[in-house]
Amino acid sequence: MPSPAVPAPADADRSVARLQLPGREVDLPIVVGSEDEHGVGIGRLRDQTGYITVDPGFGNTAACNSAITFIDGERGILRYRGYPIEELAEKSSFVEVAWLLIFGELPTSDQLAGFRALLTDEQLLHEGMRYHFEGFPPHGHPMAMLSAMINACGCYHPELLAPEMDDERLIRATATLMSKVCTIAAFSYKMTQGRRMEYPDPSLSYCRNFLHMMFSRPHRRHEPPLQVVRALTKFLILHADHEQNCSTSTVRMVGSSGANVFASVASGVCALWGPLHGGANMAVIEMLRQIQEGGDDPRSIVAKVKDRKFRLMGFGHRVYKNFDPRAKILEETCGELLDTLGVSDPLLEIARELAEIALTDDYFLERKLYPNVDFYSGIILRAIGIPLNMFTVMFSIGRVPGWIAHWYELYQDPERRICRPRQIYTGSGRREYVEMDARGC
Ligand code: CMC
Repeated sequence: MPSPAVPAPADADRSVARLQLPGREVDLPIVVGSEDEHGVGIGRLRDQTGYITVDPGFGNTAACNSAITFIDGERGILRYRGYPIEELAEKSSFVEVAWLLIFGELPTSDQLAGFRALLTDEQLLHEGMRYHFEGFPPHGHPMAMLSAMINACGCYHPELLAPEMDDERLIRATATLMSKVCTIAAFSYKMTQGRRMEYPDPSLSYCRNFLHMMFSRPHRRHEPPLQVVRALTKFLILHADHEQNCSTSTVRMVGSSGANVFASVASGVCALWGPLHGGANMAVIEMLRQIQEGGDDPRSIVAKVKDRKFRLMGFGHRVYKNFDPRAKILEETCGELLDTLGVSDPLLEIARELAEIALTDDYFLERKLYPNVDFYSGIILRAIGIPLNMFTVMFSIGRVPGWIAHWYELYQDPERRICRPRQIYTGSGRREYVEMDARGC
């Protein structure tokens, strides 16, 4: 938005921005979003002037128009298709939210029933996929397995890989991806435990079925308390979409080449894996454990962060310059879950102490660094019994609907073009090739 400190002249044309370049001026269109966000359209700048724009990390670049998720990072607002995240987390189911994100409206009861039935239909993996699993070493990372298996899954559904997509096919692809990621995740866990895979139970809801596949054993069925199911539902809803983050942008980038939805979602899993993105939920728990085991107390961790020895994991965000509304809900959910289960987790106390120190420290205040979605989520996952190396897999399960929603939005965009950023070249100028003999080899 234009800065209020620099009032525009009364006769200024508000639909264009005038850019002054050496020797010339050019008018660029101003693009306005439905929540009054303002952007400057530079799509034709190079054609008009020979100049490109430079924005490493895309901190100031809108790569697309999108009607899926709205974030106001200054005010801590997050909405999916216009619905506040707080209300969805409180009242909705993950399956309902997935439909909302992908198709734009809350489902009718018939739509929901049909979608649930499809999710159930798609829970089983093709028997052939068992051999893919057997090819992984026993301690292979579950994120590597997840991305490889999602891609492999596409091979068993050639009808969903065809270049043409419509709503009906997308519903089938969505049900396939959403159901299979749960089965793949649970399968990879059972493998590391040396245990037999539990088949999905079609009578269970999405979240209950996942917990059943993870934790039931042939002689002992896992019956999670309602609070656990509710906490998992909230976790998944809060992770379901977050507009143009690194993994979603990856999905859109890959999809822009015309790649199918399985390949595009598999690439999203890879992008999510890094510790600056979804991998932060694991890194937070590793940091808290280090404190618990006496290596460092919270104050010395904060001091080391300020000395730039490392970053405070689970803190800071590219967009939120105020609190992250997801972290707020997750902190409350954490407390409620531990209370109702009657367990205490010393890591929650350490996390709260760390947050208190950081939130009153000038280093964090000046940089507007607040707890993000990954700061408290791991404590919920621990309470549910999810092993640490699967935390980012859990984030992926939550994010699948968001990735699909963005893939489909791009697919349907009549102005879609392949994503192809430019660069400012800083390497050497033209050089003569030096023959091997002359290089003394
Ligand atoms: N600890 C210490 N300092 C930080 C942190 C942090 N967690 N985050 C940012 N800063 C500092 C950074 O050093 C820089 O300071 P200065 O201007 O003095 O050099 C300033 O704050 C701005 O940082 P930035 O790197 O330009 O910010 P960014 O928008 O590029 O990075 C971020 C965003 C999330 C990668 C970063 O805040 C970070 O590394 N956080 C820790 C990892 C994390 O929790 N990631 C999860 C993000 S939320 C969920 C998700 O997307 O998956």
